[in-house]
Amino acid sequence: MDISSEQELRQLADQLRKPEGAYGSEVAKFMNEGNLPMNLHALAVLNPSAGESILEIGMGNGYFVKNILNLDPSIHYIGCDYSPEMVELSSENNQNFIDQGRARFFMADASAMPVEDHSIDKVITINTLYFWENVHATLAEIKRVLKPNGTFYLAVRPKHILKALPVTKFGFKLYNNDKIFEMLRFADFQDVMMTSIVEPTIERHGERMNLETVIYQAKVGGEVSVA
Ligand SMILES: C[S@@+](CC[C@H](N)C(=O)[O-])C[C@H]1O[C@@H](n2cnc3c(N)ncnc32)[C@H](O)[C@@H]1O
Repeated sequence: MDISSEQELRQLADQLRKPEGAYGSEVAKFMNEGNLPMNLHALAVLNPSAGESILEIGMGNGYFVKNILNLDPSIHYIGCDYSPEMVELSSENNQNFIDQGRARFFMADASAMPVEDHSIDKVITINTLYFWENVHATLAEIKRVLKPNGTFYLAVRPKHILKALPVTKFGFKLYNNDKIFEMLRFADFQDVMMTSIVEPTIERHGERMNLETVIYQAKVGGEVSVA
């Protein structure tokens, strides 16, 4: 994908935020390649285990769903994305798991998900925080769907790396480490932890890039209030 002009960067930023149409499905494939180490690291930290229900926010075209569901036949997966194209592609790419009753995908903003209260063991999201319109409402929604003692996994690239990428000038909201801890604690998550993984250096357009994945883990308390 060769991107150079401001207009092309703006279009790419829009597609990363919400992939749409033919260009959106191309961008989704490009993300699967570019974010492969990040997704694998995040899923290793997620450590999906037998019997668990996992909800992912912003699964793109659902390429990595198999990496979760192939681990154990008793794991269940729900994918939420506000892009109709991504929900459609994820459903196509994971039809076998849908047929087995182990996966479902729906279109919604993460701040209002059609998911039962306290029904999910683990919520994960990778590379979506930059696009959330309302961080506090979204974190409250994630807490609402998690079971007591459930865990939220938030994977992002660190602010200093994103800031150096020209595309992030076009509407990405970037948060530093302290701010992310503060937001998670303000939302009343507990035992907030961070793991940072340096990825192998890659080359893009003749330039060497050092990438890094940061994964936050945050727990819901053992007792949850019922509204
Ligand atoms: C940059 S892509 C990341 C895809 C994949 N997780 C990855 O890391 O390769 C962001 C994805 O999250 C979705 N998304 C962003 N904000 C969202 C929100 N508030 N609610 C639901 N989906 C969202 C977009 O439609 C897109 O599919």
